[in-house]
Amino acid sequence: MAHEVTGVIATEVGAPVSMTTVLVPDPGPGEALVSVQACGVCHTDLHYREGGIGADFPYLLGHEAAGVVDAVGPDVTGLAPGDFVILNWRAVCGQCRACRRGRPWYCFATHNATQRMTLADGTPLSPALGIGAFAAKTLVAAGQCTKVDPAIKPEVAGLLGCGVMAGLGAALNTAGVSRGDSVAVIGCGGVGDAAILGSALAGARKIIAVDVDDRKLEWARQFGATDTVNSATADPVEQIRALTEGNGADVVIEAVGRPETYTQAFYARDLAGTVVLVGVPTPQMRLELPLLDVFGRGGALKSSWYGDCLPTRDFPTLVDLHLQGRLPLDKFVTETIPLAGVEEAFAKMRRGEVLRSVVLL
Ligand SMILES: NC(=O)c1ccc[n+]([C@@H]2O[C@H](COP(=O)([O-])OP(=O)(O)OC[C@H]3O[C@@H](n4cnc5c(N)ncnc54)[C@H](O)[C@@H]3O)[C@@H](O)[C@H]2O)c1
Ligand SMILES: [Zn+2]
Ligand SMILES: [Zn+2]
Repeated sequence: MAHEVTGVIATEVGAPVSMTTVLVPDPGPGEALVSVQACGVCHTDLHYREGGIGADFPYLLGHEAAGVVDAVGPDVTGLAPGDFVILNWRAVCGQCRACRRGRPWYCFATHNATQRMTLADGTPLSPALGIGAFAAKTLVAAGQCTKVDPAIKPEVAGLLGCGVMAGLGAALNTAGVSRGDSVAVIGCGGVGDAAILGSALAGARKIIAVDVDDRKLEWARQFGATDTVNSATADPVEQIRALTEGNGADVVIEAVGRPETYTQAFYARDLAGTVVLVGVPTPQMRLELPLLDVFGRGGALKSSWYGDCLPTRDFPTLVDLHLQGRLPLDKFVTETIPLAGVEEAFAKMRRGEVLRSVVLL
């Protein structure tokens, strides 16, 4: 029997989101039904609403979530009703070519996530990143549930399900920031600040936060930024070079997703340094760089999808670090809001007033 819950839906490009009834079926083989307790509002939800990710409207938004398993499908093992879980959009499948080659962080199995939730009239819903958690209940692939210590608050835990993991992992996994490195992070929203926190955790010696908003730069210091640059008033490439003895940073993490900030990242890194793109561009964006500079500056130009994380490896560890007081994930939660507050949360995100608004259900 399907469960009737209220969900936050994007119905067409650019239109405000709406709340409507969603039908959530009981779990079939390989699936889990989850009671969502908290779900963060990520910039990627806004990208969905703006048509920047696909045209499979209507979308059931929300994907940074934690909750409790209600029921599991008949063949599901290792997961039981009552388990406290963080939902992930990388349910490693073990079968695809990435998994078979021993590189499961490139697994795209989540794109096969269950798509059985509908509107009341039967219209199929596309759950954001295969999750769709702006609703009291959601149906996911069992592998999208990662069990963690229930001592962590759901509104903090859920953030590991997307933006915070993406930022931490961009620094720790993709860039491989290590002790003594200099790092610059361009764009200090939830994702960029998590990259700053990850760099601090790894022992970076200098961490330069770059943003166009002074309030964001102030917050970035709380996550470990040692220096800040407002790129609306100063040239970030010059400033980063000046702060690194004229060299540029060993690692530059771009957490905005725009050609101009990517170009800044490209030129702000040291020779043979690493650029990591974690910000998500839109399909229209183009990049133009002298090919000779790409060759001559050497190093690595990488993208980071979900911080190259492995949920089963990374989520429990990061939750433990948080519970031990070594990872202040609670600082990402600017406010908790009801389901009805998602549209206003997008506006606050655009005005730069929040790191994360988190819906409590
Ligand atoms: N790669 C992944 O797996 C992954 C996962 C989650 C989110 N993301 C993406 O990461 C990006 C950041 O997400 P977020 O939730 O932190 O967004 P956010 O809106 O909270 O933060 C963006 C920040 O960039 C700053 N900014 C905007 N224009 C700038 C410019 N020209 N120069 C410097 N700073 C600028 C803003 O002031 C803001 O602080 C988004 O594109 C999002 O879609 C990627
Ligand atoms: Zn796989
Ligand atoms: Zn996200």
